[in-house]
Amino acid sequence: TITAFDYKVADLTLAEAGRHQIRLAENEMPGLMALRAEFSAAQPLKGARITGSLHMTVQTAILIETLVALGAQVRWASCNIFSTQDEAAAAVVVGPNGTVDNPSGTPVFAWKGETLEEYWWCTDRIFDWSSEAAAAGEDFTGPNMILDDGGDATLLVHKGREFEIAGSVPATGADDSEEYSVILELLRASLKNDPTRFTRIAGEIKGVTEETTTGVHRLYEFHKRGELLFPAINVNDSVTKSKFDNKYGIRHSLPDGLNRATDTLIGGKTCFVAGYGDVGKGSADALRGQGARVIVSEIDPICALQAVMDGYQVATLESVIETVDIFVTATGNTAIIKPEHLLQMKHQAIIANVGHFDDEVDMAGINRIQGIEKIEIKPQVHEWRLPNGRSVLILSEGRLMNLGNATGHPSFVMSTSFANQVLAQIELFTKPDEYELGVHILPKTLDEKVARLHLSALGVELTQLTNDQARYIGVPVQGPYKVDHYRY
Ligand code: NAI
Repeated sequence: TITAFDYKVADLTLAEAGRHQIRLAENEMPGLMALRAEFSAAQPLKGARITGSLHMTVQTAILIETLVALGAQVRWASCNIFSTQDEAAAAVVVGPNGTVDNPSGTPVFAWKGETLEEYWWCTDRIFDWSSEAAAAGEDFTGPNMILDDGGDATLLVHKGREFEIAGSVPATGADDSEEYSVILELLRASLKNDPTRFTRIAGEIKGVTEETTTGVHRLYEFHKRGELLFPAINVNDSVTKSKFDNKYGIRHSLPDGLNRATDTLIGGKTCFVAGYGDVGKGSADALRGQGARVIVSEIDPICALQAVMDGYQVATLESVIETVDIFVTATGNTAIIKPEHLLQMKHQAIIANVGHFDDEVDMAGINRIQGIEKIEIKPQVHEWRLPNGRSVLILSEGRLMNLGNATGHPSFVMSTSFANQVLAQIELFTKPDEYELGVHILPKTLDEKVARLHLSALGVELTQLTNDQARYIGVPVQGPYKVDHYRY
């Protein structure tokens, strides 16, 4: 129980609406519910203080309540300024047994439409465990576990500690973005207020479990530079995460976002998908499914060859730009759509980014186009009038539009991702000796377990390997069935 209970959400009276959605979604998240049934008696996360930074949606509410059911204490923020479902955030704060007047759930700091300052304030709040420490009569500062999506929470600890050791925060960063100056400002205040705060926090953390491709990339970079402060589990590269959520999740939530934002007919249009990785594959499939003509761009010859074999034209952006109605970016890279590209686009072309950060569409550069005018059609849908007389529509200000314009991936596929998250938290928290400093992937037995937990809900009849067959192909009857480097 939390005595001093701080939180910040849009409106607690939305909790009942959120609770109804959570209740229905639980039926669609068999993996998480099975883990609750399996582990709630044993309480493997008892003593875990989890700071979570991940889109505060209905599905995430069920993840949070699963972590709590397994014994953890949790503080939560969203990892994107537009992705929070306010009713889900309210329901988590109120909790399954609380009331609006007497909330008894989990501290959440998230609402839809945060400013960058508010976003980083929320991220800072989830590292302040002083009220929990006071309630427990203990003297910890922060969490002992991080659950991250995109790596912002992990970044804050690493940068905070780095500047504490240096004794000062630089005036500007390696990157001159508005967002980075917000982070520097926050850390400057933190350093002044408590010069060893993030050093203590870093020392208390046992590890981080990271949800997405972009966050995992940041972790490997930290490790390569010898800067990683605690062990990490790369949840993204569980097969039952990236080959499901990234692919089948976006196949649902990309068209959902396009429809809710614009209601433009996709059939018959020319769509361009930058990147043919997991997210790009699901995006292209969804658009083709609606009857669009899809053109893919890739830098990797293997993915380019996959795309053409799957029946897509593969071309550079520049060579087809004038023919495209809908642009989708799914690379996780920077500067895919640049200001000069906008001037070549069709009137009312749509720009939809589903990669993790907003520099994939160079929003900073677009803002600087001479004579450009931004008109809000509705929240997260903007018409940008160009000096050439045409305009383009940019969704969610260049940020993940499947979460900003819709409600992200549906429950069933998030159950596969989040079951991996829960197992990863249990692994790192209960077996710290098995995970040395570095970036790890969950053992294949757990990956197969996550898949298994989702079969019966979909009426799957799995074939049982016989002993003879198992010997013949050299795998145990109970799995794992594939070598680690198998690619699915
Ligand atoms: P991935 O690594 O499987 O695919 C990215 C692809 O983009 C690669 O094949 C790469 O060769 C290609 N690429 C890189 N630079 C390029 C360029 N300049 N032009 C064309 N292609 C280029 O990564 P994944 O898992 O598909 O993730 C992509 C992004 O989507 C990441 O930022 C990830 O965090 C994010 N993501 C978003 C989700 C959502 O709900 N919107 C869900 C899961 C991941």
